[in-house]
Amino acid sequence: MAGAYPKITVDGFDLDPDVVAAATQHAAETGMAGRVRFAVVDAADPDLPGAYDLVTIFEALHDMARPVDALRAARAMLAEDGSVVIADERVEDEFTAPAPDPDRRAYGWSVVSCLPSVMGDPETAATGAALRPATLAGYAEAAGFGRTEALGVEDEDWRFYRLLP
Ligand SMILES: C[S@@+](CC[C@H](N)C(=O)[O-])C[C@H]1O[C@@H](n2cnc3c(N)ncnc32)[C@H](O)[C@@H]1O
Repeated sequence: MAGAYPKITVDGFDLDPDVVAAATQHAAETGMAGRVRFAVVDAADPDLPGAYDLVTIFEALHDMARPVDALRAARAMLAEDGSVVIADERVEDEFTAPAPDPDRRAYGWSVVSCLPSVMGDPETAATGAALRPATLAGYAEAAGFGRTEALGVEDEDWRFYRLLP
């Protein structure tokens, strides 16, 4: 985003210090250190400051133990007229058996990675990588958003959503 829009500034957050260190190094190597900052932050922290025009969570909401808290925090960080854009796995609208390949892949990743990383939290939502549109809309509503729109971005692997206060 910072590469495409030279006038914006970007703050990136992740729980994992190694991820933040790698991203910080990448920003420096691409000459963006002045406009792009990364920090070790829990996205579900209710006290996160900010007045952002856009908050994005790309392929990470289903990896968060408390996705509703994270969306509530994202909503609180918006400037007036700001919005939240989520990208997450493109899976079917509903479970079907036998599951098609993208859903099978999502369940496989859930078992080996996405679920083990969140099951230590006693209040985990235990979402897994098969984050279906209705589940996301329910999380958004619980977090206080008024509307969830599916964005018309055609992509084999991802669905994009815009959440409006
Ligand atoms: C599948 S990775 C995606 C990372 C990146 N968005 C990408 O597309 O490459 C999910 C990331 O979510 C991070 N994460 C999980 N829970 C989090 C939380 N509560 N706050 C911030 N980051 C979190 C993990 O540390 C992990 O790096």
